[in-house]
Amino acid sequence: MSSDNAVLKAIYERRSIRKFQDDQVLPDQIETILDAGRWAPSGLNNQPWRFMVLYAGDKRQSMLAGCTKYGSIVQNAQALIIVFLDRQNMYDYTKDCQGIGACVQNMLLAAHSLGLGGVWLGEILNRDSEAMQGLNLDQEKYQLMAVVALGYPAENGHSNRRDLQELMLEDLDSQKF
Ligand SMILES: Cc1cc2nc3c(=O)[nH]c(=O)nc-3n(C[C@H](O)[C@H](O)[C@H](O)COP(=O)(O)O)c2cc1C
Repeated sequence: MSSDNAVLKAIYERRSIRKFQDDQVLPDQIETILDAGRWAPSGLNNQPWRFMVLYAGDKRQSMLAGCTKYGSIVQNAQALIIVFLDRQNMYDYTKDCQGIGACVQNMLLAAHSLGLGGVWLGEILNRDSEAMQGLNLDQEKYQLMAVVALGYPAENGHSNRRDLQELMLEDLDSQKF
């Protein structure tokens, strides 16, 4: 799919990137990405997301890499944005998690628009206690939601989607007015 519309173009073109070049990701770029994240919608505008940023070489990078079968992606990323739910500022667990999903997608799109690549890593949640301990964070206060691995792409990324028709519970054409 293609579009001249910048937002749609980014949505259609973004792909998960799991291999990164050696070039550094700069703090300004990370701040832009975090800003895109915090402008996501959230139920009651609760903004339940909290972030931690690790740059390549941080000692905690290897620790996190050891918590997931996607460790090589974590280890080779130039930056990691770790996303948490602030348990003490929740209003509705489901809706707060949905807001965090929107936040992560905003960040992936922002990264793509800056020429960076990224991937949303969720498998690491299987070992969230280990990761939280390694990050020295209180699990009563924060819940690990995602790790976003970032860097300049060293691959194109590829994925496809089911046809829209397969996803519709009613024929779209029958609903035209
Ligand atoms: C909630 C969630 C968890 C994910 N966890 C992982 C993961 O642990 N490892 C990984 O390589 N990709 C992970 N992904 C990326 C998906 O595999 C990817 O988005 C999907 O295959 C579609 O590919 P695309 O992003 O290139 O369009 C995750 C994506 C989401 C939304």
